[in-house]
Amino acid sequence: MMHWWPCATGSTAYLPAASANIVPHSSDLHKVAVITGASSSIGRATAFAYSVEGAHIVNADLRETTKYQSHSEETRGTTHDRFRENGGQTIFVQADVTKRQSVEDAVQAAVKEFGRVDIVVNNAGITFESRDLRPVWDVPIETWETTQSTNSTGVFSGIKYASAHMLKQDPHPSGDRG
Ligand SMILES: NC(=O)c1ccc[n+]([C@@H]2O[C@H](COP(=O)([O-])OP(=O)(O)OC[C@H]3O[C@@H](n4cnc5c(N)ncnc54)[C@H](O)[C@@H]3O)[C@@H](O)[C@H]2O)c1
Repeated sequence: MMHWWPCATGSTAYLPAASANIVPHSSDLHKVAVITGASSSIGRATAFAYSVEGAHIVNADLRETTKYQSHSEETRGTTHDRFRENGGQTIFVQADVTKRQSVEDAVQAAVKEFGRVDIVVNNAGITFESRDLRPVWDVPIETWETTQSTNSTGVFSGIKYASAHMLKQDPHPSGDRG
């Protein structure tokens, strides 16, 4: 028998989830994952996929609720509410990845709540051309700078603060340091 988790909001994709016959071998490892932008879409689907693996999740997003509202099952509830329904442990941290302190705080929240950080998923990102497609000479420089601070500096900060903690912590019982 196969159960399915709702996946990216606004899409028709689904992820296979644990069932009576398919028990992920790593489901008892409880790795700790910080996922940026996990309130919506790909980040949300990633959190649900990790729940199957028994991970504890810190969702670091600007917003608590999904960007995509509808009456469908896919968009029901927040990521953390849905995660907990499946028995997972998770917290939401309001974070803006363009602000390095915000990213560092999200990593520290994982350490405070769950004791460690094993995984960072630098998912939060923006695509200005999907909302406002225009020739490059018409793109305001502020739009470019916001994109860079989110998609580039935000990713750098996630790697920087998570890896700094991974180097300090004891290896996970699986043998992985992070
Ligand atoms: N959807 C696609 O087809 C696609 C294709 C290629 C790459 N990507 C990349 O995958 C990632 C996720 O895409 P998506 O379609 O799920 O995006 P989305 O816009 O549907 O969701 C992004 C989430 O990130 C959050 N977020 C945005 N800026 C943030 C910030 N500064 N700090 C913290 N959280 C922030 C939003 O609140 C939202 O919950 C992005 O980096 C995107 O560039 C997406």
